[in-house]
Amino acid sequence: MTVTTAPNAATVAAGISLPKTRITAQQGSNKSFDLKKIRSHFPILGLEVNGHPLVYLDNAASSQMPQQVIDRLVRYQSSQHANINRAVHTLSELATGEYELARRKLQHFIHAAEEREVIFTSGTTDSINLVMHGYGRKFIGAGDEIILTTLEHHSNIVPWQMLAEEKGATIRVVPVNDAGELLIDAYENLFNERTRFVALSHVSNALGTINPVKQMIAFAHARGVPVLLDGAQAAPHMTVDVQDLDCDFYAFSGHKLCGPTGIGILYGKAALLERMQPFKGGGDMIMTVTFEKTTYNTIPHKFEAGTPPIAAAIGFGAAIDYLSAIGMDAIAAHETALLDYATQQMQQLPGVRIIGSAKDKAAVLSFVIDGVHPHDIGTLLNEDGIAVRTGHHCAQPVMQRFKLPATTRASFAFYNSMAEVDALIAGIQTVQKVFL
Ligand code: ALA
Repeated sequence: MTVTTAPNAATVAAGISLPKTRITAQQGSNKSFDLKKIRSHFPILGLEVNGHPLVYLDNAASSQMPQQVIDRLVRYQSSQHANINRAVHTLSELATGEYELARRKLQHFIHAAEEREVIFTSGTTDSINLVMHGYGRKFIGAGDEIILTTLEHHSNIVPWQMLAEEKGATIRVVPVNDAGELLIDAYENLFNERTRFVALSHVSNALGTINPVKQMIAFAHARGVPVLLDGAQAAPHMTVDVQDLDCDFYAFSGHKLCGPTGIGILYGKAALLERMQPFKGGGDMIMTVTFEKTTYNTIPHKFEAGTPPIAAAIGFGAAIDYLSAIGMDAIAAHETALLDYATQQMQQLPGVRIIGSAKDKAAVLSFVIDGVHPHDIGTLLNEDGIAVRTGHHCAQPVMQRFKLPATTRASFAFYNSMAEVDALIAGIQTVQKVFL
């Protein structure tokens, strides 16, 4: 299967410029990237759905788990489980050691300077809420301003709105252009002497835009303003180096990186974490408790009240091992090839419009089909075994910006194939035949 570079009316109307090169379905994977072998690691990819081989293109919502991670969870539950940090018996020490080893794996994965800068949370949403409560409620007050962007997921909007309402602070929003790229001049113009915090996505979940976060962080830091990055859609797709980015906080979830649900991390610079107030009170986050006064544990434990999701953290560590063995750069290269091929294929379809054509994009393809509601598209694709997400993608301001109620979103992972892109394109053509 090959695609040509001749623009059709729809792509011209959408303002999409085509790459100069020609891409074929056979190209794109680098030779050391053994896709067949990788796919064999994921039992769920062998499923049939509605009589068709599963084509799983909803990875931005949640990725699938390789056998290696499933086996690690079983081994932990079968032979290593006990509560952590609480007892001197063998199993408790074993589980504590494995949990802390998982933390170190995450530390190295994002190149954090110290393991105490990695806090286990229940996921990205929990991590952002932790920063809102721990940092925001202490350091942001009446009249202060928080900068967000149009591209944010609700989990990086609503906590800040709650804070703004409580404190009398103001939310300022960075606009995007028609390609779905942040307007950096507008971002810079939002800063003033009341700006106290910036919270922005590294990669947009709805459009796939990769934001120029390093540049944006440097600008904020030059004005003494800390920055939180929502990395939920970035960490699964690229090498993340928090020291190189110089972000103050970085949040992401395990289940989007081939790990379990219910686990994620917050990275925070130690100096900031130490100055923050705890988010949740309970066991393990304390040093001493009397009815008169409680003193808090050191970081990261100060932020890990109660029994944590021990199995999930250890499973997350195993997922990091798995991804690291493939290599995030190899993953990024394969996904870029998938995205380029899918984009070119989709651009050939009359009546199909891609939403989000940023120059820098991760493996997300949001689109609309003239005259067909996204929910109908999703339902018909599902009949062919193709899993996509339809709706507002928990990013309603993005939909409002593009004056759409919803889009259909195909989101790729490193285990997807060019043949699955072909299946998506054929599925869209079937939808058009049924509805148009
Ligand atoms: N945040 C996830 C998504 O974008 C659930 O689908």
